[in-house]
Amino acid sequence: MSDSRPTASDVLMRVVGLDKSYGGLKAVDSVTFDVYRGEVLALVGDNGAGKSTLIKAIAGAQPPDAGHVEMEGVPLRMRTPRDADAAGIGCLHQGLGLVDTLDVPENVFLGRELRTRVLGLVPQLDHGEMRQRTIELLDRFGVHLPRLNDPVIRLSGGQRQTVAISRLLLQEVRLVIMDEPMAALGVEEGARVLELVRNMRDRGISIIVISHNLEHVFQLADRIAVMKNGRLLGVVEAASTTREAIVRMITFGEAA
Ligand SMILES: Nc1ncnc2c1ncn2[C@@H]1O[C@H](COP(=O)(O)OP(=O)(O)OP(=O)(O)O)[C@@H](O)[C@H]1O
Ligand SMILES: [Mg+2]
Repeated sequence: MSDSRPTASDVLMRVVGLDKSYGGLKAVDSVTFDVYRGEVLALVGDNGAGKSTLIKAIAGAQPPDAGHVEMEGVPLRMRTPRDADAAGIGCLHQGLGLVDTLDVPENVFLGRELRTRVLGLVPQLDHGEMRQRTIELLDRFGVHLPRLNDPVIRLSGGQRQTVAISRLLLQEVRLVIMDEPMAALGVEEGARVLELVRNMRDRGISIIVISHNLEHVFQLADRIAVMKNGRLLGVVEAASTTREAIVRMITFGEAA
């Protein structure tokens, strides 16, 4: 983000008064915040703070009990993941949702397969075109995957992560939400995913990334949102805070 203060027109998504309870437990409690265009917003907090519940509500995976979400001032219907899709919100949950036995282009185009007609008649999958478009997509984001035709089960964790992200980028996403994308990745693979996230931001895509790794958070984030016991304690500029201050917020609930 630039140095100047963001204005209302910089707001891509607005989350207003979101509540979600599981039985007697308030997992998400009156959470309100904005996401700006082309920013990386890190969402941090201890285990059980409510981070995943919050993003599931935004992504339509688990409707909230109260509150709403606006994209560019327009309130969203948030009952199913298709609602998020239609609003240009792509979400990577921890399982990634890849089909192990399919190859890279087949996973990228999963559910949106391209078809062609043999001799102008018999419909069949257009593997050549899907492969070509996958290569172009990966190129555009500066990503190299060695073996596109292998089933993705043979790829490493970081490569699988890349395939899952590519799937999102195939659509016109404006906001990508990632739940712990760098967890369980090696140093080099984690660095590649960081690079890909920066690449998305450079193309104007906004990103919400959940991470327990504060080193990654400070490498990536423009702003840091801290949750504790279902509540959002605050959102702070990464450049004007410290790791110690964030740890104190996470641990003791101290305001910024
Ligand atoms: N499906 C569910 N049913 C009942 N309780 C749930 C469910 N999902 C989450 N919770 C509870 O809601 C609270 C918030 O959980 P959530 O998964 O959102 O935390 P989190 O911040 O993502 O934690 P972590 O960092 O460990 O992933 C926790 O107390 C959790 O036990
Ligand atoms: Mg979680």
